[in-house]
Amino acid sequence: MLICHCNIITEKEIEQTIVGLLDQDPWQLIVPAKVYHAMHKRGRCCGCFPNVVETIIRVTENYHARSQASGVDIVSHLDRVRGLRVQYGSRTHERRTTDHRAA
Ligand code: FES
Repeated sequence: MLICHCNIITEKEIEQTIVGLLDQDPWQLIVPAKVYHAMHKRGRCCGCFPNVVETIIRVTENYHARSQASGVDIVSHLDRVRGLRVQYGSRTHERRTTDHRAA
């Protein structure tokens, strides 16, 4: 499934990049700009960022569920990751008005 129409990036490519970043440092805070930087891409309209945040949360939860970390560490880290919804997940952060939406 295509997530970023500006850069032609699929959900699978984003998932693989997130896993690669988590392999380097499982406790780093991954944000959409970090994922795109790792892929040598840049957000243009940034309308895809809410979907990227949801992908980051899902992949990070699954990654840590498979790891040996204690439950307390996982919960506190995931609270920080879920905090990205406030920063990127709101429709008010799409940086475009609703009358310019393509879909
Ligand atoms: S859809 Fe991803 S930057 Fe525009």
